[in-house]
Order: sequence, then C-alpha cells, then structure tokens
Amino acid sequence: MKKIMIKDMSSHVGETVKLGAWLANKRSSGKIAFLQLRDGSGFVQGVVVKEVVGEEIFQTAKGLTQETSMYITGEVTKDERSSFGYELQVKEIEVIHAAVDYPITPKEHGTEFLMDNRHLWLRSRKQHAIMKIRNEIIRATYEFFNNNGFVKMDPPILTGSAPEGTSELFQTKYFDEDAYLSQSGQLYMEAAAMALGKVFSFGPTFRAEKSKTRRHLIEFWMIEPEMAFIEFDENLEVQEQYVSFIVQAVLKNCQLELERLGRDTSKLEKIQAPFPRITYDDAIKFLHEKGFDDIKWGDDFGSPHETAIAESYDMPVFITHYPVGIKPFYMQPHPDREDVVLCADLIAPEGYGEIIGGSERIHDYDLLKQRLAEHKLDESAYAWYLELRKQGSVPHSGFGLGLERTVAWLSGAEHVRESIPFPRLLNRLYP
Ligand code: 4AD
Ligand code: MG
Repeated sequence: MKKIMIKDMSSHVGETVKLGAWLANKRSSGKIAFLQLRDGSGFVQGVVVKEVVGEEIFQTAKGLTQETSMYITGEVTKDERSSFGYELQVKEIEVIHAAVDYPITPKEHGTEFLMDNRHLWLRSRKQHAIMKIRNEIIRATYEFFNNNGFVKMDPPILTGSAPEGTSELFQTKYFDEDAYLSQSGQLYMEAAAMALGKVFSFGPTFRAEKSKTRRHLIEFWMIEPEMAFIEFDENLEVQEQYVSFIVQAVLKNCQLELERLGRDTSKLEKIQAPFPRITYDDAIKFLHEKGFDDIKWGDDFGSPHETAIAESYDMPVFITHYPVGIKPFYMQPHPDREDVVLCADLIAPEGYGEIIGGSERIHDYDLLKQRLAEHKLDESAYAWYLELRKQGSVPHSGFGLGLERTVAWLSGAEHVRESIPFPRLLNRLYP
C-alpha cells in the first residue's frame, strides 16, 4: 500500500492509499462517520460508511478520541464541496495511539491557557495556517535574494557590541567576558557586504524590551540584507520589491491557509511596488492636522501615530528622514541637513505597524568615530566596525524586516505571539 501525504492526494484520485494521520475532529450517526484528519501537510475528511467497512471498523471510527494517531487506508475521491477538493473513502483504520483528553478543543479558552499549551495549540487549523504562511515568507525570502544576487551570510548570535542601543540588551557571560545576545546582525552584515557585495542574513534577534504590546516579542527573527554601493533611494526600491514579492508569493502559494484564516485577500492583492513615501516632517504635520497634539518634532512615533499614518494608504508606507536624535549611531546624515538621517521605516497597512527599519550607513571614518562618542559607546568594542571605514569604505545601505510582524500582517493575526512557534514574551519562557 502506498503511504502518501494529504497534500499529495490530488494525484491519487481513484487509488487506495494509506495516510499517517491524527484525528482533528469527528461527527457520526448510526451509519456514517466523518473523520477530520490531519497529517501536518493538510486536513482532509475521511468518510466511514458502516455498510462498507463492517461493524468492527465502524465502531473503531466512532470511538476515536481527538488527536488519536492512526494509519488509515481508503480510496481518494474528488469532493467538490470542500475547499481542499478531496476526500478519503475509508476502508481500514489502524490506531497507533489513543489520545487522552486533548485540552485545546472543543472548549473555549483564554489566550493564557492556549499559550501554556502552545505545544498542543500549534496543531489547530488556525495555527497550522499561520505557520504555513510563515514558512512561505521564509521560502520566498530565499528565492528573492538568491534571484537578485545576494549571498546568505550568518552573523553571530553571541556578540560584544550593541547596534540598536544599550538599554535593551540581554547580557550573559562569555567565559570571563561580558557578552550580549544579538539585537541585530547589521554591523556584521556591513563587514560581510564589503566582502561579498550583496548579502542577507536570517536569524533570531533578542530585545530585553519591557513592552507588552501586540507587536513586541523578546526573541524575534529578522531578515537583514546589506548592500555595498547602494544608496538611500536604491535601498527603498529593494525593500518595496522584496515586500511585494513575499506578499504575492503568499497569495499564490497559501490560498487554502488564507481562506481558512478568513483573511481579506483583496487588501493584499493591491500590494505592489512602488510604495508611497512620506517624510518625518510631513508625518508630524499630518498628525497635527489629525489632532495628535501630544507629538512634537523630535519625538518618536508610537503605534497610534503609525496606525493613523498607515490608514491613509492601502499600501505599506515609508516614513523617511527621521531626526538624528531618535535613531541609532550608524545612520548617514542627510546631505543638506544636519538634523535628519537617511533612514526609513516601512509601516504595514491595517495597523500592523513597522515591519522594516533601514538606512544608509555612515561610511566616513571620522564621522562614525564622532557618533560613537556622542552615543557614549565604547570605541574599543566597535574597533573592527570602525576599521571597515579605513579599508576602501563605500556608501552602503541595508535594512531589517521583522518576520513575525510580517507574518501577523499577511495572516491577519491580531498579535505577534501567534506568528512564531514558541513565543518569548515578557512573562513567558514556557513552553
Ligand atoms: O528597526 P529595528 O530595530 O532595526 C534594526 O535592528 C536594524 N539594525 C536593521 C538593519 O538595518 N539591518 O528592527 C527591525 C525590524 C522592525 O522594523 C520590526 O519589524 C522588527 O525588526 N522588530 C521586532 N519585532 C518583534 N518584536 C520586537 N521587539 C521587535 N523589534 C524590532
Ligand atoms: Mg525600528
């Protein structure tokens, strides 16, 4: 008997096949049982007809508890009524392990309970769909950067320096030295770009942020491209092309998942480069017009501000040229203004907030040295980074896309905790 996966059933119509599956749900009457089966690759309905399988198998089917694992054999048929399109006409059931009291369904639960049971909650249809979308974004990321001549380079996780400010660092011991968990691979990616031209990284990053919002994780994954000889505007073009590419890939390859999540895909279909741009100066004016009196030039935006700006567009929007005082030390100043830097944040539509932070980097040795001093950073910890500016320094730019916020946006999840398998949150290191 051929053992196949649910996702491949379409090429086995009319054949008798064997699946390894779990019972996700079940309903039955005296003569027929409908088994909702899942095997990780998908969900399918198994139909057990008493007259066909006989009393013994029918009773086995009726007695299956949720999450029981089994090998199940049957004929693949077309089923026009379901979105998946196929069914299994069950012939045999071989129970592997009978599950006891699966806690997640069918009861209603609060989020804390579901989070405590994240290891089981991941099996639900909704979580399954979100994880598939996450996977597709990662796949499309590699495709995009490989197609465009980027080399994947992996920066270290244990580091001696802090790119994004010293207040949100996880400190640890590295034998006798102090070390930090990486907040961003950027500084290393800048060195990598000087060696390989166009590079990107994809890895975990850590921020000891005491924020408890629907956009903040303590551990999150970032995609960080860095490009030699690429200046501010060119950097934005790469970003809008990359983001359009992953949105279109998810629309194309995750149709079932988006449907299962009830995602309004018409909003995603519009996402196509180029994206609108607004300067920080104009964003401040816009917010004042909208009645946000709490914010003044020089302040950083909070999520209500970002959401108000994003609401005027049906695309992601770049906010450019932030004040130098609210951005990290490494950003290249505006050529004609001292008070703003060549940076942009990309704000997702529908209130999902900042998904990208990026900038042109300072490539002048003296200016970078001065900025390190202004930010009271220990120059010796950045000696290697500074030295890059002595060895054929070139204009270069890069950005970081937060994977979980992007997953939350595309899947329509209300909180980033659902867009990573095992979220690390302010109050959660378990499971
Ligand atoms: O804007 P950030 O802090 O930029 C950097 O770290 C740059 N060094 C990246 C670079 O230029 N290579 O972070 C980049 C993105 C944010 O736009 C956001 O999407 C995500 O990372 N992010 C978080 N996601 C979840 N939880 C958090 N606590 C996050 N902090 C940032
Ligand atoms: Mg940022």
